[in-house]
Amino acid sequence: MFTTSAAPPTGAVRHGPLWTRAFHAFNLVVLVVMGASGLQIYNANPVFGGRGGITVPELFTLGGWLAGGRDWHFGFMGLYAANLGLWIGLLLRRRHRRLAAVGDVGTLRASGNPPKRRLAAHRITYTLMLIVLAFSLITGLAMYKPAQFWWLVALFSFAEGAGHDSWQVLRISHLATIPAIALLLGAHVALSWRVGGLRLLRSMFV
Ligand code: HEM
Repeated sequence: MFTTSAAPPTGAVRHGPLWTRAFHAFNLVVLVVMGASGLQIYNANPVFGGRGGITVPELFTLGGWLAGGRDWHFGFMGLYAANLGLWIGLLLRRRHRRLAAVGDVGTLRASGNPPKRRLAAHRITYTLMLIVLAFSLITGLAMYKPAQFWWLVALFSFAEGAGHDSWQVLRISHLATIPAIALLLGAHVALSWRVGGLRLLRSMFV
């Protein structure tokens, strides 16, 4: 998904295997469907301000209304979970060098070598993204089957101590994965751009 130390010479950007590029594009589509359908669900009863509260422009939503949004969201969640599981499994087994290591934070802070710093930043961003995606799945599961995953819901009961409704905190945590993913995706694209420009970005898809 990303190249490493230095910008490749002009014309030298390598294309990944077809299945990697297809998987990458597919993941992005699934993520957009999950995000847009989630925002449709959100609009039916905004966390902030209730039914008359702050909503998201229709352009960013999918499904047309609450039931439509839920159909898309619940229809794609299996794919999302399977993709994420496969992705994390592959990284841990075969491509763990793409994941952040303890030394990366030190490199980012202290190294005077820009390509090394870029690689460290990229690995940290990439790893954080996987963590946020997994968090989205966990909080989503807790909301989807609260009776079966009561122990997941219970993790959010810490909010009760501070006078907040734990379900509301769970909803906000799930919703917050959207801006978090958007930020990390932005960083991921910007770093890829710095390493290999448009050619590298294109090589991830075509
Ligand atoms: C397997 C993964 C996921 C599951 C099981 C899941 C499940 C759920 C459930 C059960 C709801 C509440 C539905 C309702 O109240 O009718 C929900 C809402 C939502 N989901 Fe997901 N979700 C998952 C992944 C995602 C992802 C990846 C995103 C974003 C990229 C996302 C964004 C949202 C948003 C924004 C809402 C509305 C939050 C609210 O207002 O309460 N979900 N999801």
